[in-house]
Amino acid sequence: MIEKDAIREKLKLIRSKLSREDVRTKSAQIRELLFSLPEFQRAKSVSFYVAKENEVQTDHMIKDSLRSGKKVLIPITDKESGKLIFSELRDYDTELEPGAFGVLEPEPAYRRVVSPAAMDLIVVPGVAFDVKGHRLGRGKGYYDRFLSEVSLNKVDAQFIGLAYEFQVLKEIQHEHGDVPVHKIVTEKRIINCRVFG
Ligand SMILES: Nc1ncnc2c1ncn2[C@@H]1O[C@H](COP(=O)(O)OP(=O)(O)OP(=O)(O)O)[C@@H](O)[C@H]1O
Ligand SMILES: [Mg+2]
Repeated sequence: MIEKDAIREKLKLIRSKLSREDVRTKSAQIRELLFSLPEFQRAKSVSFYVAKENEVQTDHMIKDSLRSGKKVLIPITDKESGKLIFSELRDYDTELEPGAFGVLEPEPAYRRVVSPAAMDLIVVPGVAFDVKGHRLGRGKGYYDRFLSEVSLNKVDAQFIGLAYEFQVLKEIQHEHGDVPVHKIVTEKRIINCRVFG
């Protein structure tokens, strides 16, 4: 879809111009707000994406979650099936290696595959979101397919999008089958998408 691609490219360009300092500071603010959410505090099992380039950084979130005793699940991109497979991560510094599209994922020796049904909360990456929770992702439909599958099988997992404030738009075109996130956390606020939906 041309318009979607144009918006995606524009926002990726803006994101690529953030300084390392900006990425670090804003990601830390997002972490604070995410960790303040009751549904996050309650969650025993949380899936995180591992950030690439200037995406909202999740490394500290992952390490803090492990330290506080949560079960942390990380995706492996399976190009063959077009699906994300989730694996339990126990140590951030030693278990990851670059995988598909250059995203860090668990090395084969550290793969402990878990079913999506075990997730209480899913942290979702995005290039842009609108206030109703619709999202523009990395562009290959992996999270779309995964979230549709989860919402069919487990209705009570919370989907939380992480974004810089400039990535929150008034409206994003969405298609039948797109699964909106429940909340979006930016460096400035928590957006409760169901209020707008
Ligand atoms: N719910 C879905 N089930 C199956 N395929 C889907 C679904 N949503 C999107 N797709 C397919 O995935 C491809 C990419 O979709 P889209 O442009 O929406 O990606 P995206 O949302 O930016 O990516 P991602 O989910 O990986 O972050 C398209 O070919 C689309 O048809
Ligand atoms: Mg999509």
